[in-house]
Order: sequence, then C-alpha cells, then structure tokens
Amino acid sequence: MIDLRSDTVTRPTPDMRRAMAEAPLGDDVYGEDPTVNALEQRTAELLGKQAALFMPSGTMTNQVALRSHTEGGDAILTDINAHIFRLESGAPGGISGLMIRPLMGRNGIFGAEDVAAAARRPHRFMPATVAPLPKLVCLENTHNIGGGAIWPLESIRAVADVARAHDMPMHLDGARLWHACVATGIAEADYAAPFDSVSVCFSKGLGAPVGSALAGSAAFIARARRFRNMLAGAMRQAGVIAAGALYALEHHRARLAEDHAKARRLAAGLARLPGIAIDPEDVPTNIVRFRVTAMEAGDFAERCHAAGVFMLPGGPDVLRAVTHLDVSERDIDQAIGTFYRICLSCGLSRVCIN
Ligand SMILES: Cc1ncc(COP(=O)(O)O)c(C=O)c1O
Repeated sequence: MIDLRSDTVTRPTPDMRRAMAEAPLGDDVYGEDPTVNALEQRTAELLGKQAALFMPSGTMTNQVALRSHTEGGDAILTDINAHIFRLESGAPGGISGLMIRPLMGRNGIFGAEDVAAAARRPHRFMPATVAPLPKLVCLENTHNIGGGAIWPLESIRAVADVARAHDMPMHLDGARLWHACVATGIAEADYAAPFDSVSVCFSKGLGAPVGSALAGSAAFIARARRFRNMLAGAMRQAGVIAAGALYALEHHRARLAEDHAKARRLAAGLARLPGIAIDPEDVPTNIVRFRVTAMEAGDFAERCHAAGVFMLPGGPDVLRAVTHLDVSERDIDQAIGTFYRICLSCGLSRVCIN
C-alpha cells in the first residue's frame, strides 16, 4: 500500500517513539509538564512570538484563534478554499458565531485589493450595525486546496498593511508553514512577523503523531488558554505527545525538501500519462493536485485504491496526492506505474513512460 492521501498518515519513527517514551511529564493544566513547556517555548522562539500553546489539532488551534480574536456576529475574511472555511465542520459559525466573507483567491492566494474591497469603511447609509465589518483576516500558507501554494512574503505584507489600516488582526493557518520555509529559504519568524497569531501543525509533514500549536503575544495566548479549556483541549501529561512534536521540530524540518522533490517526481510522471492533466511546474511543495479527464475522479481513486495506491478525490475531476516521510522515491515510481496500468486498462494509450 502506498498512502498518498495526506501527510497526516505518517507513523512515528523509532527515534521519535524513543523520545516520547523517555519524555519527562507533569500535569499541563497546572503548567507543570516540562516537555509541553519546552515545545511551547521552542515553537514561540522559532515563530518570533512571545508565547505558544499546545493543542491536540490544527482545527483546534485555528478555532481557538478565531474565538480569541472576535465576538459572535463578527465577519472574518478567508480565501474561498481556506481550510478554516471549507474543512473545519462549520466551527467558525458553530463555535464562535462568525460569518465568513470568502475572498476569491487564486490557489488560495488573494490580494491586498481584495481585502481593501471587503473592508470598505461604513457609510452613513450602510452603517456597520447593518453590514458587519470584517474583524479578522486569515491566510493559509502553504495552501492545502491550493495545491501546496506558497504565499509570497511581499503579498502577505501588502495584505497586512491593509488589514492594519482597518484595525483587523491577522491570523495565519500555518499547518504547513514549514514547507513554505524550506521551499523559499524564508525563516519561520519572518513569515510569522505580519501576523498576530500563527497556528502550526506537527502532525502533517513533520511526521509527529499528534499536535499543533498556536503562537502570539503573551496576552493573546493567555486569552487563548481559556478558550482551549472551553473547547476541552486542555490535556494532562501531554508531554508524551509533545515529545513527538518536539522531536519532529528539531529533526524533520530540513528533510521536507525530499518530500518536495518526490512531489515533483510524481507530477512529472503524471504529466506523461494520457487522460491526466497536470502542470508539473505548478507543484511548489508536497501537494500534487491533478485532473483526470478519462473518468470520474472518485472512480479513478477507487481503481487506484484497489491496486494499492491511496489518494483523495478533491472534486468531480480532481485528485490529490501528498508526499511525506512514509513514502519513498521507489513508492512514487510504483504509484506512477499503477496509474499507467489503470490508464491503459481504460483504453488510453498515448503514453511515453521510461
Ligand atoms: C491547512 C490546514 N489547516 C488546518 C488543518 C487541520 O489540522 P487537524 O487535522 O490537525 O485538525 C489541516 C489538516 O489537514 C490543514 O491542511
């Protein structure tokens, strides 16, 4: 089985398991777990923020951030395909009573002009009591549904300038910020600087089994701590899992470049197959999105699954394959071979494979 559904499917390595087994522990609700404290401190330091807070998932770090920044009835701005908007169970409305004003980005990346248009100042005939003004801008870097797209730092800064001019704080869903840093050479703290809060995940490309962190000012994190409790995210001897995250942070960031190379290899292989549309130049990190023209994406995914290659359908004709720690170059070549055989079995033959 070659599992390309997500980079969340990785298992802890033997060294990571050892670090988890040996981690010193305490009760984190009392702030006494030394491993959680070390992870939070290291995360805050890397992101150039005063404090960080460990939580079980990226959905929780995002939602605690939204709750901490806003009041019920507020509007927030996200890309139309943001994970916060599309894939978090309606939590902005369900938990925080927020209304999302989606922006039409390209691969998840919108412009300062989109924010300016959405944040227009109230007019006396259209007061903010009638049309709620957005109170928060959310970006996602890299962008999941956008095919692992990377936000250019200049574009982030331009958006942040507009957000500040309208008194809107900025939140970053940085579940895969590590990938953007490795691909561009830009430091985490530089990417994080324009934001008031940053969510990062250890359980995706970094390969830890569980965990995310929310970083920001000391005052913001103190407020977030209360909402984490409300959402039942306060844990006790959480150092067991924090140790896996800390290990991943120290040992698995640089190796993400290998996952990017595997994604490019997969894209190049796919581009040679008939019935598949992909621009191999358009794979900046570890997420490969491609179109199948010969059959429904769901059918293609089922056939691949039966042949031992797992992927996610991302729309009627779109599939997503993600490279990670637990797939090798050889697996990628095998997966391409499987796709080739499936294309042939559908009567497609224009193919050059070597
Ligand atoms: C961009 C992004 N943000 C947030 C999340 C949520 O993370 P979790 O699955 O830990 O809740 C994901 C999950 O894949 C994601 O891709």
